[in-house]
Amino acid sequence: MKFFIDSANLDEIKEAHALGILAGVTTNPTLVAKEGVDFHTRLKEICAVVKGSVSAEVVSEKAEDMIAEGEELARIAPQITIKVPMTAEGLKAVHAFQEKGIKTNVTLIFSANQALLAARAGATYVSPFLGRLDDIGHDGMELISDIAEIFSLHDIQTEIIAASIRHPQHVREAALRGAHIATIPFKVLKQLIQHPLTDIGIEKFLRDWEKTQQ
Ligand code: E4P
Repeated sequence: MKFFIDSANLDEIKEAHALGILAGVTTNPTLVAKEGVDFHTRLKEICAVVKGSVSAEVVSEKAEDMIAEGEELARIAPQITIKVPMTAEGLKAVHAFQEKGIKTNVTLIFSANQALLAARAGATYVSPFLGRLDDIGHDGMELISDIAEIFSLHDIQTEIIAASIRHPQHVREAALRGAHIATIPFKVLKQLIQHPLTDIGIEKFLRDWEKTQQ
């Protein structure tokens, strides 16, 4: 499973990139609004740092408007992936983007059928939202398993991005269930690195090393 960062914050993206584990970035309108920056400028800044897929979401609701908006975003950099909501209009736009050779990430996926439709429309990625399903008492992980099984059974190349990740356990489970990618908030990425036994181990090694007086 590969790692994307789910953020529009440039410092977080740079720090995650420096770790050498970053395969891409996902943004959404909420994340961009939090930064209070110009969307296109921020995308250019992100693409200067990260060469992997950078998802930029369209906010239009009609397919033809999504296509126009997406084409403009795609001109910013070659690694821009157009994030399209899972609607009938979104599916039409995804199909048009595929014909134009523009990569897409279908977002707000909450069922296996939605994922299958998005894949058949030509999506490069589908993003099932784990945390938001868990929030309403459903099992987000079951959805990852179902999509992974369906895609494997039917030889579908669309990649599954486990999204709406809330904690490290989501990351581990998504990897075990067959997600190709997890898009992770910076806070969770830092949690993945840490373990109290690692800290205790380093402290003991350093203390013991001091005793050797080297
Ligand atoms: C994914 O691409 C989305 O940007 C994101 O994971 C949504 O997460 P949230 O449910 O925490 O807003």
